[in-house]
Amino acid sequence: MPENYFDERIAATYETKWPEIFEPAVVDPAVSFLAELARSGTALELGIGTGRLALPLSRRGIRVHGIELSPAMAEHLQAKPGADSIGVTIGDFATATVSGTFGLAYLVRNTIMNLTTQGGQVDCFRNVAAHLDPGGYFVIEVIVPALQRLPPGETVRAFTVTPRHLGFDEYDIAAQRLTSHHFWVVNGELETFSAPFRYVWPAELDLMAQLAGLTLRERWSGWDREPFTSDSTSHISVWQKSGG
Ligand SMILES: C[S@@+](CC[C@H](N)C(=O)[O-])C[C@H]1O[C@@H](n2cnc3c(N)ncnc32)[C@H](O)[C@@H]1O
Repeated sequence: MPENYFDERIAATYETKWPEIFEPAVVDPAVSFLAELARSGTALELGIGTGRLALPLSRRGIRVHGIELSPAMAEHLQAKPGADSIGVTIGDFATATVSGTFGLAYLVRNTIMNLTTQGGQVDCFRNVAAHLDPGGYFVIEVIVPALQRLPPGETVRAFTVTPRHLGFDEYDIAAQRLTSHHFWVVNGELETFSAPFRYVWPAELDLMAQLAGLTLRERWSGWDREPFTSDSTSHISVWQKSGG
């Protein structure tokens, strides 16, 4: 089982540590994009967290189920209004099984990178394929690794710099991994959080999808279907299972 970095300390402060991702301008286009693809009315969220997208998706009439490694994140979800219509399975989304199949599976906010081995990421695609209806979709939102923006010889890149939050990615190129370091100033005190990730290229994700029997259908740089270009810093990719 992968290590759980989202303990009670992080779960209790998730919304205040990353307030920008709860902005309607961020949430609404993502929910609209996902609702459009959840044609059968069912969706599986991998790493559902505290329900940032699952709750509004559920309010649009989609039956959402989540897989979540962190009991603390799941408890904070379950304490929110509307959570009684969302089922949660505690486990690793690379291997956990849930009964039934879904029209849509989705994995947002770089969470595919929480699986820190190539084998784990491949397993995740295979697990998703096993949980999709024929013709069902798998959506991933993840960064494009920022190596083009890393000066030669440097290993550390700032990804956020604000008066209350500093974030740095520390790249290990040989291992295709990075460690994200966060520092927040909260009421004059310093709070920190570091976690390891395996960064992954769009083409490698396409190969993992192919191994799992999924085909790339769409790739965008944002939830409003902005074009994906050589300058894009992240992507939203949609693969489809055959049949249906
Ligand atoms: C960055 S948060 C995203 C939460 C939510 N999807 C959102 O958009 O706000 C990543 C979540 O994935 C969960 N997670 C990480 N690795 C996991 C794994 N292997 N299996 C299941 N959940 C995992 C974490 O516990 C955390 O709740």
